[in-house]
Amino acid sequence: MRMGLFGNKSKRKKFMQGNNDNTMTLHKNLKFTAIEQYKLIRANLDFTLPDNEKCPVIGVTSSMRGEGKSTTAVNLSYVFAEKGSKVLLIDADLRIPSIAKKLKIESTPGLSDLLKGKGAKISEFQSHLFDNWFVLPSGDIPPNPTELLGSNRMENVLNQLREVFDYIIIDLPPVNIVSDAISISSLISGMIVVIREEYTEKKELERCFRQLNLSNVNILGCVMNGTETGSKMYGKYKKYKYYQHYTTE
Ligand SMILES: Nc1ncnc2c1ncn2[C@@H]1O[C@H](COP(=O)(O)OP(=O)(O)OP(=O)(O)O)[C@@H](O)[C@H]1O
Ligand SMILES: [Mg+2]
Repeated sequence: MRMGLFGNKSKRKKFMQGNNDNTMTLHKNLKFTAIEQYKLIRANLDFTLPDNEKCPVIGVTSSMRGEGKSTTAVNLSYVFAEKGSKVLLIDADLRIPSIAKKLKIESTPGLSDLLKGKGAKISEFQSHLFDNWFVLPSGDIPPNPTELLGSNRMENVLNQLREVFDYIIIDLPPVNIVSDAISISSLISGMIVVIREEYTEKKELERCFRQLNLSNVNILGCVMNGTETGSKMYGKYKKYKYYQHYTTE
């Protein structure tokens, strides 16, 4: 696997502190080159996913917190929708959800309420962002996310959604911190692993892949999330690369 990993502590700290203005890293505010990289990821995914699958369900995870999972999930769902596909982005980070905040929508009701079976129709839970781009926010934070994400009810919800959408992208928590991503993995088509340049630690990434492989998770590929360039923090995306198949060589 190609990668350059990364131990710059001061950069790491800055990333952890995040950026107050998340919007600069999201869809319509992205620079042309960044959007093009997401389109490349989209094209590679289309190539990797089985042709006959009606509505691929793609999980987005990483080894640790702050590597760009949610940013990747938002932007990827956006470029799929932009191409004309009907797309649902689900915030399944039921512990520290962030999609609603990033997209400036209400976080409830959402997935957790749906999984707790409050009886409402799925369509009442999702927000419509534009033409064919929909979001299912996290909902209230539940006490048992791992169990909920691996539940029969989750399977039923996904089966119903598969009938309505062309693609479903699921934002998940990190593999090395909680088992939620592993728990949902058998219900989805595959997983994308986000790696952040000069942030992700090699040993954490190895642990993450060990974990995913042990659980037989279908790893669709990795996204290299960009580095900062210039003097402004998070001012630019330097690059996104997609490694079509993960190998340990
Ligand atoms: N390529 C990038 N360039 C600049 N800033 C970025 C980039 N990717 C993510 N960020 C910023 O880094 C922070 C963490 O990103 P994000 O929320 O996507 O990570 P995450 O992996 O989902 O984190 P968590 O594990 O906490 O859910 C956010 O403030 C986001 O705006
Ligand atoms: Mg996140």
